[in-house]
Amino acid sequence: MSEPEEPEFRIAFDGVSLKRGERVIFDGLSCGFPRGRVSVVLGGSGAGKSTLIRMIGGLQRPDSGSVRVAEQDITGFSERELFKVRDRIGMLFQGGALLDSMTVAENVALPLREHTRLAEMDIESEVDRRLVAVGLSDTGHLYPRELSGGMSRRAALARAIVMDPEILLVDEPFSGLDPINVRRIEALLVDLNRHLDLTLIVTSHHMASSLRMADRLVFMVDGIAIAGPPDDLLKSADERIVEFLIAESDSFAEHHELDVTPLMDRRTTPDRRKNS
Ligand SMILES: Nc1ncnc2c1ncn2[C@@H]1O[C@H](COP(=O)(O)OP(=O)(O)OP(=O)(O)O)[C@@H](O)[C@H]1O
Ligand SMILES: [Mg+2]
Repeated sequence: MSEPEEPEFRIAFDGVSLKRGERVIFDGLSCGFPRGRVSVVLGGSGAGKSTLIRMIGGLQRPDSGSVRVAEQDITGFSERELFKVRDRIGMLFQGGALLDSMTVAENVALPLREHTRLAEMDIESEVDRRLVAVGLSDTGHLYPRELSGGMSRRAALARAIVMDPEILLVDEPFSGLDPINVRRIEALLVDLNRHLDLTLIVTSHHMASSLRMADRLVFMVDGIAIAGPPDDLLKSADERIVEFLIAESDSFAEHHELDVTPLMDRRTTPDRRKNS
């Protein structure tokens, strides 16, 4: 994918390969994530999106190739070194749940208690500040079971940003949410990106939100990544991208504010549609 100006990458994969048993998950994957921008990682189930997120957090090592995070090649890092890198990264795992036995405030405070020596009073004010940021002021005393799905997701986001990360990794934040909550989470993520100058990486199946949010799209397919500005990828002639977009297009065609006409025009071979 041609990009006139190569952006400055805060995170970069270079020739990363990973096998699990006989299954090849990554096969020489190279791609970058620009600093301070929103990158959305797309790909079918099992394409390796969550694995990619885990690699950035140093939770999964590649068999070969390198992963660079914030100017450091973390590939050979020890657990201790990775711990320092993780201090700069906020992570919201796929299905990442709040702990049921703790209140919302206690959940959000967890990383501060584990990674800092802040006094209790300061922890409280840090937690309050994050809850306000995600639109959940006055809910700190509630237990997760008392929250709606959208509220839980926002509380988990508050926890992911409580350490002021410079990189935020969010795995499937929209799954299981109704369209209104999808919009809220999406707006919140973009807002966090703008105000905190976060390098944000979101994985998603949700085409409409992905296109609204992304400065850069990263398609995972066949163990590699095809990345570029959304407009370029939408116009791509790459069979694999076209096929993925067509399969997902029903869901995002509903969002009329998106111009999907060029894509629909390419729907010339209905038998290629996975969801028909
Ligand atoms: N620890 C592991 N051991 C064995 N196989 C694994 C492991 N982690 C992931 N895989 C395999 O790696 C592939 C990629 O998984 P991954 O969870 O990254 O996909 P994904 O794109 O996030 O999928 P989904 O959209 O369903 O969340 C899958 O085939 C999965 O079975
Ligand atoms: Mg996943």
